[in-house]
Amino acid sequence: MSHHACDTVKLLTINDLSAMKKRGEKISCLTAYDASFSALIDKSGVDIMLVGDSLGMVVQGHSTTIPVTIDDMVYHTRCVSSARKRAFVIADLPFMSYSSPENAATNAAKLMQMGGAQMVKLEGPRMEIISFLVDQGIPVCGHLGLLPQSINRLGGYKVQGKDLVEAEKIIADAYQLQQSGAGLLVLECVPAMLAKEISTRLSIPVIGIGAGIDCDGQVLVLYDMLDIGIVKRPRFSRNFMQESATIEGAIHAYNEAVKQSRFPTSEQSF
Ligand code: KIV
Repeated sequence: MSHHACDTVKLLTINDLSAMKKRGEKISCLTAYDASFSALIDKSGVDIMLVGDSLGMVVQGHSTTIPVTIDDMVYHTRCVSSARKRAFVIADLPFMSYSSPENAATNAAKLMQMGGAQMVKLEGPRMEIISFLVDQGIPVCGHLGLLPQSINRLGGYKVQGKDLVEAEKIIADAYQLQQSGAGLLVLECVPAMLAKEISTRLSIPVIGIGAGIDCDGQVLVLYDMLDIGIVKRPRFSRNFMQESATIEGAIHAYNEAVKQSRFPTSEQSF
């Protein structure tokens, strides 16, 4: 066993991600659900792995994320966090696992203590829940725009914040989320101009999916960008297997494209 400083890779922290935003360095993120992909994504230099409740769709084969349980999330989070050396690991709090501050704290603790997550993500402008978690020392990533756990209320997977009233509500929510102590924000399926404004105004890093090129970072669902999804690949994603003969190469190409601001283009934006 060698313990030379030069071969120790350090885990990224929330401070590293904030420093990247300050430097104007793009933050790359992919979803991950198991140890093999975790190791591969980690090796490719992707900064964040999100154990998304999208696993309900791409791993479990459901049509929404609603059936995913906290035990499912703990299991997959542990698989991912055990295999990485550098990437920051965020785990989703699934549907109804943060219906009260106490409930949220109990479930977030499971993701961190048993799953090894460094941060938890929850959907919507839930300021009371966010500040309660942050008070317990739990780092929180917000998620605004399209909220897949609210799909039955929204009535479909569509672009959010298209009219002025909706856009102003998302801007106000984003600001309050930051005030409540959220350390990161995911913006999903919103017009590129709106995401640009929010990314510029907030001091915390904003990670976009279907939110244009001007976010501080990008995230995609792994199986979409490898083009092995069960359902049709969403317009905001891209098949990175077209640029590579191997899965490792496709992940590397995605990381480079994000870092060099070559992804997304207007083709994948709204
Ligand atoms: O569940 C998930 O994978 C997500 C991303 C799409 C942001 O929340």
